[in-house]
Amino acid sequence: MFTVTNILIPWLRDAHAIEQAAISILEMQSKRLERYPRMEAKVIEHLEVTRRQAELVKSCLQRHNADTSPLQDSMGRFVSAMNALTTSAVIGDEAVKANIADYAFENMEIATYRLLIATANFVGDHETQTICEEILSQEQEMANWLGQEMIVMTRAFLNSNAVGQAARR
Ligand SMILES: [Fe+2]
Repeated sequence: MFTVTNILIPWLRDAHAIEQAAISILEMQSKRLERYPRMEAKVIEHLEVTRRQAELVKSCLQRHNADTSPLQDSMGRFVSAMNALTTSAVIGDEAVKANIADYAFENMEIATYRLLIATANFVGDHETQTICEEILSQEQEMANWLGQEMIVMTRAFLNSNAVGQAARR
């Protein structure tokens, strides 16, 4: 039978490790987006939100006298791939690539918190359920923003290249 101990705690630990990975990705991005002030401001804002999320998830673990733990192998590899995508220095389009990576990451977080909400409800941990619902809405807000910004950013990137090409003619 699934209980707090054998299902909710391991999945909360994964969520905490995902937030820790998000913090390191967002910290790195926040230093590299000065040419894209809208994205830079949003990344810095979401970095603060993410730090609070990590603390909230940790508080759920602590209420069950459980500690945090590193990300499991399979998820760790996924996060490394995200990191590579975020840092790949493709000339000029790295901010657009960062947006893709962030959008994918946010949607992974959305799926993670949906799973946790259903699980917390199943085992009767309503405080964790409420916290995860609050975090889910923050992740959805960020994913929606990134999805919209992707269009703005791609157009800006394409136009800047068109201007450059025209100047070279
Ligand atoms: Fe998050």
